[in-house]
Amino acid sequence: MIILEGKNLRKTYGYAENKVDAIKNISIEIEEGSFVAVVGTSGSGKSTLLHVLAGLVKPNAGKVYLQGESLYDMNDDRLTRLRRRKMGFVFQFFNLITTHNVIENIVLPIHLDNRQVDEEYVDEIIDLLKLKEKKYAFIHELSGGQQQRVAIARALASKPAIIFADEPTGNLDAKSSQEVIQLLKIVQRKYHETVIMVTHDEMIANVADRILRIEDGQIIQDTAQKNE
Ligand SMILES: Nc1ncnc2c1ncn2[C@@H]1O[C@H](COP(=O)(O)OP(=O)(O)OP(=O)(O)O)[C@@H](O)[C@H]1O
Ligand SMILES: [Mg+2]
Repeated sequence: MIILEGKNLRKTYGYAENKVDAIKNISIEIEEGSFVAVVGTSGSGKSTLLHVLAGLVKPNAGKVYLQGESLYDMNDDRLTRLRRRKMGFVFQFFNLITTHNVIENIVLPIHLDNRQVDEEYVDEIIDLLKLKEKKYAFIHELSGGQQQRVAIARALASKPAIIFADEPTGNLDAKSSQEVIQLLKIVQRKYHETVIMVTHDEMIANVADRILRIEDGQIIQDTAQKNE
């Protein structure tokens, strides 16, 4: 089943001589439960594409459908709510709240959305992401890899339909990057999550089921990968 679809997407920044065509007519379908990596050189349009697909940046043309609903045809309140309910985000800079401990960070988005925390499920994620010993630690007591695992747990906690990750290992050394990505893959498989991840690291992209290569605002390669 297709969970997310982008149709004829274009995104331009700036005007006249400063105009940049960041995305040039991209169409894409994302299969539910798949792990998709978006790769390409710096400035090729990876983040722009991710942000457009996640309802964060309105394209100049084209449509994005999440579970059949057109993101940019609904009002802002509805889109905000839909993002909160159905999307999880993991970024390069972990965006954790330093005055809160690990578990508080993980459940914060659920509280903000006035929803009930599924404690059993959250504990399971914490376990899978190897954060059990750090459940009550503060953010400054964690390594970069641990911080990113907290950010992943936070993204998963509200059981989103899809997770968007932009360079989730961009701030980590090679060893922590591998660990974080392997754990992300384990949870993705276990809960049949859909993940779209931008990375410029080919080793990291290798965990994905599918690799989309972007160059100059266009998809130049779309490869399925055999991955158990
Ligand atoms: N807010 C913005 N205003 C103006 N131009 C922008 C903006 N964001 C991105 N761009 C331009 O759009 C193009 C695509 O940028 P984008 O951030 O999508 O690339 P990227 O592939 O994610 O690069 P990187 O690997 O460096 O993160 C670049 O030429 C960039 O300079
Ligand atoms: Mg980027």
